[in-house]
Amino acid sequence: MHPTAAHDPLPFFHKQTIFLTGGTGLVGGCLLFKLAMKLDTGKIYALVRGSPERAVSQLRDIIPNQVDAILATNKVKLVVGDICEHKFGIDPVVLAEMARTVTVIIHSAASISLRTTQRECVEINCLPVLQLAQMSSSFENLSKFVFISTAYANSHLPDGVIEERIYPGGDAEQQLSRIMEAGSLAEGLAGFTHAYTLVKNITEQLLLSRNPHLPILIVRPTCIAPAISQPHPYYSRPGSSPGSGYVQRYMESPDSGVFHVSSFHPTGTNIVDEIPVDITANLILLHIMHDTRGIVHAGSESYVRRTLAQLHQTIIDHFPRRPGSRRPEFRYLSMSDRRVPQGRYAEFLKTFGRDWHFSNAASQKFVALEGPLSIALGDHDAGRFMDERAGLISADVVRRRSSKASAKL
Ligand SMILES: NC(=O)c1ccc[n+]([C@@H]2O[C@H](COP(=O)([O-])OP(=O)(O)OC[C@H]3O[C@@H](n4cnc5c(N)ncnc54)[C@H](OP(=O)(O)O)[C@@H]3O)[C@@H](O)[C@H]2O)c1
Repeated sequence: MHPTAAHDPLPFFHKQTIFLTGGTGLVGGCLLFKLAMKLDTGKIYALVRGSPERAVSQLRDIIPNQVDAILATNKVKLVVGDICEHKFGIDPVVLAEMARTVTVIIHSAASISLRTTQRECVEINCLPVLQLAQMSSSFENLSKFVFISTAYANSHLPDGVIEERIYPGGDAEQQLSRIMEAGSLAEGLAGFTHAYTLVKNITEQLLLSRNPHLPILIVRPTCIAPAISQPHPYYSRPGSSPGSGYVQRYMESPDSGVFHVSSFHPTGTNIVDEIPVDITANLILLHIMHDTRGIVHAGSESYVRRTLAQLHQTIIDHFPRRPGSRRPEFRYLSMSDRRVPQGRYAEFLKTFGRDWHFSNAASQKFVALEGPLSIALGDHDAGRFMDERAGLISADVVRRRSSKASAKL
């Protein structure tokens, strides 16, 4: 389906002034590229930490061949600040200019660490979102406030279908007060996998309940994978793709390979939900353009569904062998066998053995759309792509291993 005039993103984005946070991150870097290079966006204020020079050097690490072209568009203004500071530490003159002109806020800055305490996580992943919503009440022309959450914001729910909505749960105001006062909930993680997912859940609820008049779009990606093609094939940021991190760690030092899986998938046939970052970015931008409000998922239902066992087979196929080393083995234990502990990576991630089905119903209407925001896969071969991705990770593990060995000589 060709984009009709009403669905052509170019005239729409040409009229927009975007405030993007997290523009040096995995998702934000891709959004920055798309907005500046593919959509000819009117203007982009990109919040960066430290200094513009630091940000450019970070971007050079992840998009070395695109960064100069992005800056040469003269559409991007790097705004120094920090989301943990009052009014993000933005120069008041620049903030006043933004309040007059910004039409769309995309808040992608966050800590994606699964090791933070509840208190640390609230400080970086919740309070800044609520502060930004407050700041945006003085933005005169705002038509969309986008918060990037995570599909695992519902990791307290049992396996099964997760819809694009808020599920009834704890009182988020009380939960926030308790974490601020005591450091954590009395009931610990309250069934969530990590502080990160618990706090995303609290943040979604508070953002919506405290700001009923704000045009909010919450996007919940599943695990984000490297780009299929934009800004460049395999574009990623080290440490930001959980699937790549898992493959890399496993190749560096395999563990027992034991996984606790649902009894419906005793051979690891549950889906490990991943979506490439460029499809994620296109979905975010499509929903902005189509004025979607509320909650949408971005996951494998909009890409390709792959199982845990397939991921493991890819690791086995590309495992960097050393003389005398054995091929890794994976064991899937369903409920009855859980006296045997999981391997350490499985235990750390907690989500790869689960069997959630994240509905992408809100994005189905975009499947056949063509143009710069197309999510159609064309001749993309997902199996070959995954193989090449694992091959790159394997080669990197070997390279680092041999440079470590030569450093010891
Ligand atoms: N990666 C995933 O698999 C995944 C999955 C689901 C949802 N998400 C969500 O998607 C969003 C983007 O994640 P990502 O993968 O792009 O993360 P990322 O690669 O780790 O990037 C994080 C970004 O946030 C910025 N940032 C962190 N702390 C900041 C602070 N105090 N002030 C200003 N900027 C700060 C970082 O800036 P520096 O460059 O200065 O560090 C970076 O630009 C997050 O909300 C995340 O929760 C990610």
